[in-house]
Amino acid sequence: MSGHGDPIPMTSRRSGPLTGEAHVPGDKSISHRSLILGALAVGETHITGLLEGQDVLDTARAMRAFGAELTHHGTGAWTVGGVGVGGFAEPSDVIDCGNSGTGVRLIMGAMATSPITATFTGDASLRGRPMGRVTDPLALFGARAYGRSGGRLPMTVVGAAEPVPVRYTVPVPSAQVKSAVLLAGLNAPGETVVIEKEATRDHTERMLTGFGAQCRVEDSEEGRVITLTGQPELLPQTIVVPRDPSSAAFPVCAALIVEGSDALVPNIGLNPTRAGLFTTLQEMGADLTFENMREEGGEPVADLRARFSPNMKGIEVPPERAPSMIDEYPILSVVACFAEGATVMKGVKELRVKESDRIDAMARGLEACGATVEEDEDTLIVHGMGPGGLPGGATCAARLDHRIAMSFLCAGMAAQQPVTVDDAGPIATSFPVFEPLMEKLGAQFVRAGE
Ligand code: S3P
Repeated sequence: MSGHGDPIPMTSRRSGPLTGEAHVPGDKSISHRSLILGALAVGETHITGLLEGQDVLDTARAMRAFGAELTHHGTGAWTVGGVGVGGFAEPSDVIDCGNSGTGVRLIMGAMATSPITATFTGDASLRGRPMGRVTDPLALFGARAYGRSGGRLPMTVVGAAEPVPVRYTVPVPSAQVKSAVLLAGLNAPGETVVIEKEATRDHTERMLTGFGAQCRVEDSEEGRVITLTGQPELLPQTIVVPRDPSSAAFPVCAALIVEGSDALVPNIGLNPTRAGLFTTLQEMGADLTFENMREEGGEPVADLRARFSPNMKGIEVPPERAPSMIDEYPILSVVACFAEGATVMKGVKELRVKESDRIDAMARGLEACGATVEEDEDTLIVHGMGPGGLPGGATCAARLDHRIAMSFLCAGMAAQQPVTVDDAGPIATSFPVFEPLMEKLGAQFVRAGE
């Protein structure tokens, strides 16, 4: 489990062309939600394509602790025997969500309107992240939370015995907060209303509707208004989890910066609330095409083809695009090193409270590799050095953050000198097959001691 084992230093050196197909794992956001909503349905939900990264496995273990019956049938195939809305049992031990902010925040929401108490913890990264953004709205339902200073884990949540519905405007663009409030609203009588000023990923709304809840979304002057009718009977579903665009970002971006590459990344979910990176790359002049565009399970899906793109230009990424590519700024900042001119990323302060402070982690690591980077609280600017221009030759800190580790390994594939990450272990949280998948395309990774 990330953060618990010995560090796994890994070095990435300049590779030949990346070619072939990369079948990336299932979507992490949808995987968490499939397990949690499956646990809240009455009957057996069947899931295929589930991401079996540590984050999702920790959510699976948590759902068992709350009384759901989960069965693993083979790679990505699970059934979840749900206990129904309001049916969660009180866990007999602490819930360890490992590295996963999504896991802990969604589960806190899902249990906060039941008359049970649960204590949550996680690894060093998760114990440093703010939970007040979730426990503040959960208090409006009648739940109470007792954590460390700054609203940090470990934290005990006492669920509301007689929850009341809530009307809540989310103060930061966060799908985790929105989803926690909606999941809490499931067991409150009447209508719970969540308003978000900027649209964030909408998997919870879509899946609640799929499970048979009444969940209405309207655009108004206040923003996106989501109205959920409480205490529905959720009906078990058959779910095919699409492949994760946030994981696809790594082979796609690596192919854009490694000379001679031509890689296909098939079956990627392109929900507009997730696809901001691909728009940005095309604006930069990337040779990135969407083939075989189609709809699957109500979501747009395509095969992504990425080819080496020696003529990319830095651009200003509009701040309003941030929610649709929030997890992709680390790898975008690597691509920016290989473009001409500056890439200006504004409105990105949420990056400071992810698995690590991702602005600081990327700025320090890219500087060590020889790039020029500017930052302020809400902005990251990377000055491009053109194709093959990044010197590399540094060891970068992964900071218990899977996306930071993968980003620097991609940088090493195109930099002049190898790039080492001090710990590739966290990659297993979201992309357990990253190493063999990238090596099959042509990457040259070496683990320390090999
Ligand atoms: C997620 C929401 C985002 C994202 C995270 C997954 C989700 O976080 O960064 O990786 O599944 O709801 P925020 O809600 O904090 O923006």
